[in-house]
Amino acid sequence: MVLITEPIDPACVAWLRERTDIVEASVGTSEFQTSLANAQAMVVRTYTIVGQELLVSAPKLKVIGRAGVGVDNIDLVACADRGIRVVHTPDANSTAVAEYVFASLLAATRAIPTVIHAPRDRAEWTDLRRDAIARRELGEMTLGLVGLGRVGRRVARIARAFGMRTLYTDLLDLPEPDREGAEPASIDRVLAECDVVSLHVDDRPGNRHLINDRALQRIKPDAILINTSRGFVVDAQSLAAFLRTNKAARAILDVHDPEPICPDSPLLGLPNAILTPHVAAATAAAHARMSWVVRDVWRVLTGEEPHHPAPTVHR
Ligand code: 3PG
Repeated sequence: MVLITEPIDPACVAWLRERTDIVEASVGTSEFQTSLANAQAMVVRTYTIVGQELLVSAPKLKVIGRAGVGVDNIDLVACADRGIRVVHTPDANSTAVAEYVFASLLAATRAIPTVIHAPRDRAEWTDLRRDAIARRELGEMTLGLVGLGRVGRRVARIARAFGMRTLYTDLLDLPEPDREGAEPASIDRVLAECDVVSLHVDDRPGNRHLINDRALQRIKPDAILINTSRGFVVDAQSLAAFLRTNKAARAILDVHDPEPICPDSPLLGLPNAILTPHVAAATAAAHARMSWVVRDVWRVLTGEEPHHPAPTVHR
């Protein structure tokens, strides 16, 4: 039996149902708790915390399918110790996230006034046109990518089309053809020289509070910071202090720590903090690709090697 704990594409549920029994039950429900004892596989997304506590109640578990990329909600070491395979969909939503980066960046930098009625006079029309003037074009800005992996690279490719100069920093020494025209630099240089800093690091614990007071001291006072990686990568207290002091700076944050955002988040209500509810991957195509993790789940259940095992320990 496969226990599905968060919504996935119905076509993928149907595909799996043709092959095995399925229970769809959210964490915390009594159906979830009773099904756990019989589950050979689980399909989860971001909000199912798979730790020791859950694993001890799931003695038959062979495989966990993470419909998505991030596996920070899964205790990979505990799974490995119990011989439970973890599979995910590493490239399923890279395009959707890269599109979100530019959608949100353009929304923050370009006013698109919509006309819903004829202007009273020419002066009103003129005001609309004057107020829409953007301070800068993307092609005048330098983009800094913290992480040039699957998503970072797509963002770099799009940035090149916009004529942006791009700097990047990455743990790996990437060969020139993999850089999409971006120039390697230290993280300090990326922070100090870039007008837009977009975070594309992975969910390893070492990335916690990568953007802290020290990092924010380097960043330009009118920079735009975009976070689509994980909420814990940014120290929210430090960022809120930075945004209060630097009114021309902006933060576009799609991920938060914790989620949902708490009422006492220091970022709520700041005019220069644009907060979205973890939707960078939210396109129908990305959701479908993420949901097809069921194929790898089935491979493991039938004794085959999965195509996308999650790393046991971080690279
Ligand atoms: C991921 O890690 O794939 C993204 O954060 C999206 O995941 P979700 O839509 O399942 O939360």
